[in-house]
Amino acid sequence: AAGRELVVAIDGPSGSGKSSVSKEVARRFGLAYLDTGAMYRALTWWCLDRGVDLADAEAVVEAARTFPLAQGTDPDRELVLVGGTDVAVEIRGARVTGAVSAVATNPAARAVLVARQQQLIADSGRRIVAEGRDITTVVAPDADARILLTADERARMARRGLQNGGVEDAAQLRAEVVGRDAKDSTVVNFTEAADGVVTIDSSDLTVEQTVQAVLDAVVRAAGRT
Ligand code: DC
Repeated sequence: AAGRELVVAIDGPSGSGKSSVSKEVARRFGLAYLDTGAMYRALTWWCLDRGVDLADAEAVVEAARTFPLAQGTDPDRELVLVGGTDVAVEIRGARVTGAVSAVATNPAARAVLVARQQQLIADSGRRIVAEGRDITTVVAPDADARILLTADERARMARRGLQNGGVEDAAQLRAEVVGRDAKDSTVVNFTEAADGVVTIDSSDLTVEQTVQAVLDAVVRAAGRT
């Protein structure tokens, strides 16, 4: 890819607005975009599809090593193919969302996916926005800009509610958002910023204001636009 290297790492909990903000930041800088959550979701989809027991840690690691994933990095065109099947929609469904923590809390499976993520970052010519839970700390601790995007529980629940069409009851929503983050944070700390990571609280910001705050943070950290 043309241009100077610019790796932007963005972590945060679900409902922090990470995905829409990260995509928009990628567009503004003309960078690629890596959704690492989609990779955990795609592996979960594959395990469910193949009948791999998610409680069998070894089997999940073997699936992580071998599953036929083709993941795109264009912020304007989500591409997640597993064995030629387009799973972009299905990986957002309740079945995968309810099971993904079992994969995300498997340390050896994480190591395999982290290596794949680092390869995608290298393949981009190191011109990419990568988002997830451990990008600032594990996947790309050497990123030019490292950001933790937070939002309080109220804002995160409201955003999830909107994403789900606003029809879910509050208890289910809370279980989904808070419960999944609680499970996931047993292996990755994405609630506190690591050294050198800039925290942006989006609770009272619009998407556009959040994008602007991230753009500013990137310019300050990387010293360029
Ligand atoms: O961001 P998301 O909701 O699409 O993430 C899906 C799941 O994968 C979620 O349970 C957290 C986990 N995840 C992770 O553990 N590490 C990442 N870098 C990205 C996602």
